[in-house]
Formats: sequence, C-alpha cells, structure tokens
Amino acid sequence: MPDESAQVRFLIVGRTGWIANMVAELLEQRGERYAFASFRLEQREACELELDALRPQRVLNCAGVTGRPNVDWCEDHRRETVRSNVLGVLNLADCCASRGIHLTNFATGCLYHYDDGEHRPTAEGGRPFTEDDPPNFFGSYYSRTKAMVEELLRSAFDNVLILRLRMPVSDDLSPRSFVAKIARYEKVVNIPNSMTVLTELLPVALDMSERGLTGVYNFTNPGSISHNEVLELYRKYIDPKFQWKNFTLEEQAKILKAGRSNCELDVRKLLRDNPGAQIREVHAAMEEVFRRMQAKGVKPLAAP
Ligand SMILES: NC(=O)c1ccc[n+]([C@@H]2O[C@H](COP(=O)([O-])OP(=O)(O)OC[C@H]3O[C@@H](n4cnc5c(N)ncnc54)[C@H](OP(=O)(O)O)[C@@H]3O)[C@@H](O)[C@H]2O)c1
Repeated sequence: MPDESAQVRFLIVGRTGWIANMVAELLEQRGERYAFASFRLEQREACELELDALRPQRVLNCAGVTGRPNVDWCEDHRRETVRSNVLGVLNLADCCASRGIHLTNFATGCLYHYDDGEHRPTAEGGRPFTEDDPPNFFGSYYSRTKAMVEELLRSAFDNVLILRLRMPVSDDLSPRSFVAKIARYEKVVNIPNSMTVLTELLPVALDMSERGLTGVYNFTNPGSISHNEVLELYRKYIDPKFQWKNFTLEEQAKILKAGRSNCELDVRKLLRDNPGAQIREVHAAMEEVFRRMQAKGVKPLAAP
C-alpha cells in the first residue's frame, strides 16, 4: 500500500499514469515505503509543501503531457504542453534541488530521427545516437518540449537522472504499450527502432535512483527491432490470424498532424553503469515479453 505518512522513501509524480502505476507496483513488490504526489508539476507552493511534509529521499517523475489519443494533441495545445513538460518539470527539479532530493525523470528518446548520413539505420552502416548527440528531430511539438527541458535539466541541475525511454512495451496489451498501438493501426510503417522493455528496465530505473546516479541515459534495450518484426511476434504468440498492411513514411505523414521519431539509441553508457542488470538485446527481450504474455493467457485484441 502507498504510505501517506511522513518520510516516505519514494514519491511518485503522475498518480493516474501508465508508467507511474507500474513503478508503484514494483515498489510495492520490493516492500518500499512510497506515496503518490498530489500536486500538479507546475504548482510550486503545493510541491514545496508536500516535499517538506513527506520528506522523500527520492522523487520519481512519471508525469508529463503525452496527448490523447496521441502526441498530435500537443500540436494544438502548446501552452498546456509547455506548462507540464517544461515549466512543470523544471519546477519539480528546482524544488527537489533546493532540498537535496534526487529526482528521476522518465523522459523520452524521441529526440532523433535517422538521416541519410552518419545516423542511417545500423543495418545500413549507421551509428546509433548517443546521449551527447544533439537532437535532430523537431517534427512534433511534444518532442520539441522534451528536448528543451532535457537541455535545461542537464545543464543546470546536478540532482537529476534523465532516463530516455522509447516505444515502451509492457507484458500485456495495454493501449499505451507500443505493441497494442501498432497492432490496432490500420497500416504501419516498417522501420527499426529502439524500444524499452519495461519488465527489464523499470527495476533498473529504481536501482539507478537508489544509487543516486545523475545525468542523461538512453534507456532502451540494445539494438533495434522493426514494426514488422514486432507484429510477427504478435502473430506467433497471440493471434495466429493477425494480418497487417504496411505503408511508407510519406503515406503516414498524410494522416498525422505531427511527425514521429524513428531512431536507434546507443546504450553503451546504460550497460556500462549497470553491469549486473539483465538488459537483453531487443529481439531476445521482445520474444520474452510475448512468451510471458502467452503464458498468462493474454487474448488477441478485438479488430478495430
Ligand atoms: N508511453 C510512451 O509511449 C512514452 C514513451 C517515451 C516516454 N514517455 C514519457 O514517460 C512519462 C510517463 O508516460 P506515460 O505513458 O505513463 O504517460 P500517461 O499514461 O499519459 O501518464 C501521464 C501522467 O502525467 C500526469 N500529468 C500530466 N501533466 C501533469 C502535471 N502538470 N502535473 C501532474 N501530473 C501531470 C497525468 O495526469 P492527468 O491525466 O491528471 O493530467 C498522468 O497521470 C511521460 O513523461 C512520457 O512523455 C512515455
């Protein structure tokens, strides 16, 4: 149970969020004392009052505007997006910094896209993006706010751990999971991407928070996997009758308001600093996700 009394060890921001609830479940399993924050990110006074009342040792920020039904929403709601993703996150980081509290920010790696040169897909001889490569994807307002806040956090706050997730995948068919998202689309592009297998990586996030690591980490499994490879696993383990259609990036652009990032991240820093952690190559990790889903009897998604 969340501990609402003083001196919780972990304070989670984002009470109703998908990732926040998985993090809470993990803390529960570990028998940790934690609470969910009741303030909005941008509410300075409420944030300060709660930090002073609960005195958490660690704050885990899983809150942010992600858009509903998807990030296209952010294109037409720019002030709301800035309020949470920039002003709010900076406010939280600043309130934590002035109290000496470590903050883990669940951020995004959707700051990059492949180019025709050095950053081609690795299968074509390209090099994955490191934490020090400057963002080169500005096709969505959501990603732009995330890039702006990352730059401010990394340059001004030494209490913050920034974990860049991409296309997170859970062991179910939650509508937030990348698998369920693409399995529901009428047509999908087919591009290799870095993905974050949450069952493997959320425990690593908590360990990194415990150890007080700071700075930016690409937070995905190593390697990249294409949309079709993921859907083939879905067909193999969940729905043998499943079929899908591909379309090109140019065709996709016609039905979206904002662009979508496609890229592979370099995770050598993550692996170097977490030598004991089980972080499998993404194909092996995804195969395990589907095996776990099959073992617990996950049913195919209803046709859209
Ligand atoms: N899911 C993905 O595909 C993905 C990929 C990469 C990175 N991430 C990042 O990981 C984080 C968590 O993602 P998620 O998928 O768990 O998102 P989610 O399910 O949309 O949850 C976001 C949470 O943030 C809360 N929130 C938004 N603005 C807030 C504010 N100003 N103050 C306090 N709470 C606020 C929302 O509460 P309300 O509904 O009450 O506003 C909600 O509880 C986000 O920052 C997201 O950008 C997600």
